[in-house]
Amino acid sequence: MKFLIPVLLLALAAVSYSSVLSTARNNVNVGIVRPGDRLLRSATVYKPPRANTIQYEDFVFNGSRNTRISAINATEIGVRQFPSAYILRGGVGANNVTIRVQSARGRGYNYSIRIYGR
Ligand SMILES: *[C@@H]1O[C@H](CO)[C@@H](O)[C@H](O)[C@H]1NC(C)=O
Ligand SMILES: *[C@@H]1O[C@H](CO)[C@@H](O)[C@H](O)[C@H]1NC(C)=O
Ligand SMILES: *[C@@H]1O[C@H](CO)[C@@H](O)[C@H](O)[C@H]1NC(C)=O
Ligand SMILES: *[C@@H]1O[C@H](CO)[C@@H](O)[C@H](O)[C@H]1NC(C)=O
Repeated sequence: MKFLIPVLLLALAAVSYSSVLSTARNNVNVGIVRPGDRLLRSATVYKPPRANTIQYEDFVFNGSRNTRISAINATEIGVRQFPSAYILRGGVGANNVTIRVQSARGRGYNYSIRIYGR
């Protein structure tokens, strides 16, 4: 009986943790927008659902030679479709970034992408 309660609490914690994970959208939100930073690029990438297919694209931002990216935000908008987005190359501190946006099988995606820096 003494051991049962901690085990039950652990099980409950595991259940609530996994439900937090599964309800979170797969967004990118890295870096900090500081005073003096500008919105370098704002874009929407969208693909409609396609039966039985995983669709993806690489969104590329190339700054100029002395551009410094300070923050990157890719946020799913609209209907939840369980896509994923992650940084493939470059990123905060670099002058370029490539973001891979990928759908779930049979679904589409709709992401708002914002890149800040100077
Ligand atoms: C970004 O730069 C890379 C490397 O120079 C180039 O291959 C690519 O076509 C560029 N993409 C865009 C969208 O400017
Ligand atoms: C970036 O994305 C997060 C969600 O992942 C959102 O809550 C936040 O407001 C966004 N920030 C900016 C500056 O767009
Ligand atoms: C993407 O989501 C936004 C926000 O809900 C919506 O306004 C827009 O129409 C959507 N784009 C497409 C092509 O469905
Ligand atoms: C992109 O950023 C990386 C990391 O800073 C750098 O090594 C690479 O040369 C950059 N690519 C371009 C096309 O500027």
